[in-house]
Amino acid sequence: VPTLLTCTAPVNIAVIKYWGKRNEDLILPINSSLSVTLHQNQLKTTTTVASCKHFKEDRIWLNGKEVDINHPRLQSCLREIRRLARKRHSDEENNSEKLNLSQKVHICSVNNFPTAAGLASSAAGYACLVYALAKLYGVQGELSKVARQGSGSACRSMYGGFVQWIMGNRSDGKDSIAEELHPETHWPQLRILILVVSSERKPVGSSAGMQTSVKTSPLLKYRAESVVPQRMKEMVDAIGQRNFEKFAELTMKDSNQFHATCGDTYPPIFYLNDVSKRIMNMVHRYNSHYGNIKAAYTFDAGPNAVIFTLDEDVGEFIELVKEHFPPETNGELFLKGLPVSKVTLSEELKSAI
Ligand code: DP6
Repeated sequence: VPTLLTCTAPVNIAVIKYWGKRNEDLILPINSSLSVTLHQNQLKTTTTVASCKHFKEDRIWLNGKEVDINHPRLQSCLREIRRLARKRHSDEENNSEKLNLSQKVHICSVNNFPTAAGLASSAAGYACLVYALAKLYGVQGELSKVARQGSGSACRSMYGGFVQWIMGNRSDGKDSIAEELHPETHWPQLRILILVVSSERKPVGSSAGMQTSVKTSPLLKYRAESVVPQRMKEMVDAIGQRNFEKFAELTMKDSNQFHATCGDTYPPIFYLNDVSKRIMNMVHRYNSHYGNIKAAYTFDAGPNAVIFTLDEDVGEFIELVKEHFPPETNGELFLKGLPVSKVTLSEELKSAI
């Protein structure tokens, strides 16, 4: 009978972006980053791991399809968890529940959202895999270092709420870890909307994209050394004080600078499309109509928009989106993650934006 275990891990959305590695194998970043983790019941990965003495080899299925277990990053996570398990089991010699570490595992992972469309699927995926394997092998302790070796952004999905990934400066990566700044209860009014512009696979994956950016973009180097350190401090303060305007402004500026570094990469990488840009303009017009910042956008390595608002403005913002992007003009754009409440926009607002 196999030992079986199921876990879920949520997506995280970076408001200070990670882009660029200083070590490709260990996945060590050139700057710190900060993210907000979504609720477990929204965009998430569910992973089941099974181990059994009859399994002949390790195997993995993603969204129902078997994929190559020899992927280097998968192997890094498996190797690391097994190493930690061996260490723990040798520390506790009398452990009667010893799981045979030579047993093979079967892993089955599913996302409830489009994979590789710039919706942080690798983050939730590796966070979930590492957590599930750790539970299976009885490994405890700081696991974000292990998840990081699967996908950089995955280390942030090991925690809920507001999370920073401290870049660290050691060459062995031991100090490059994620850390929860505040639990989600810290800012209950904060809302996240996902505007799915396209669920197609991104043309350039994040790993390849950031590699080219590190090689070719002087703007990225400037960003990592001279912009992000200060911006991280300001973002930590803004979140600490629940200052939405500051949080929103920093979020938009950081997204824009990340996409500017993609444009500065040679050959350039474009993740935003016309719909993404229309969403950005809509947000700025909405904010300037009120004379203060009520909504913010951020975009990862894809055209889909993530919008932050406060609870009191969600309904109005959703109506605005529906007004701008009626289903008949853009069938692909839809809202995910929140119940849509009916709010009527004033004629004044409609004509202003
Ligand atoms: C734009 O974590 O997917 O979403 O470490 O190579 O797996 P690898 O990259 P990945 O990159 C995420 C980039 C981003 C910004 C972010 O989430 O911080």
